[in-house]
Amino acid sequence: QTTQPEQEKKLAARTALRWVRNGMLVGLGSGSTAAFFIAALGEFIRRGDLQVQATATSLASETLARQAGIPLVEPRRGLRFDLTVDGADELDAHLRLVKGGGGALLREKVLATASDYLLIVADSSKVVPQLGRFPLPLEVVPFALPWVLDAVAALGGAPVLRLMKNDPTEAARSDQNNFLVDCHFGAVPDPEQLAFRLQVIPGIVEHGLFLGLAQAAIIAHETEVFVHQP
Ligand code: A5P
Repeated sequence: QTTQPEQEKKLAARTALRWVRNGMLVGLGSGSTAAFFIAALGEFIRRGDLQVQATATSLASETLARQAGIPLVEPRRGLRFDLTVDGADELDAHLRLVKGGGGALLREKVLATASDYLLIVADSSKVVPQLGRFPLPLEVVPFALPWVLDAVAALGGAPVLRLMKNDPTEAARSDQNNFLVDCHFGAVPDPEQLAFRLQVIPGIVEHGLFLGLAQAAIIAHETEVFVHQP
């Protein structure tokens, strides 16, 4: 028995295959919706219906891609992606996103920026009228943590150090071995201004606001699929 969000995630992810063409270099996102895309892409490749190469935005997605039989390329200078398919924790009508719930925000933003087309795949619960319902993730250099917490608190972000799910006495770590901090700003009426304020704080490697990066979003609502392309 699959739940409705899970079915929606699968539907959005499978629909994204229509954007993939032979010979493309594809960025593979992270999280459960991106995982459905990786599995579906792997099926097409193993059947011989598609030939692409890919790079993953997390070690977890890299493992999934290898298992799915997707040929992987290492990062190198000049590498540009024709298409990156990734999930989101929330998105608004302007395709501004909050990402990083899975902790992969840094590599996700690197690939999003190195891509000609960022396609978001999401279930209907991710669409919000205003960003801020989902706590905003930050990737933080461990040494800088106390000062980052002070600076984010001064901005009204109520920062919380993310702990490991299976051992809440230990801080969660990103693929780069950095800390993750979840910020509770409440409604974010001006995401551009908040992004600017966060990116000038030393020790914040990256924040989870993805602004002006996504070209389109595939949103599944029950059994229907909507494509947002503002
Ligand atoms: C990973 O760091 C995130 O940015 C994911 O894209 C986001 O958490 C969406 O995850 P789900 O597809 O599992 O909801």
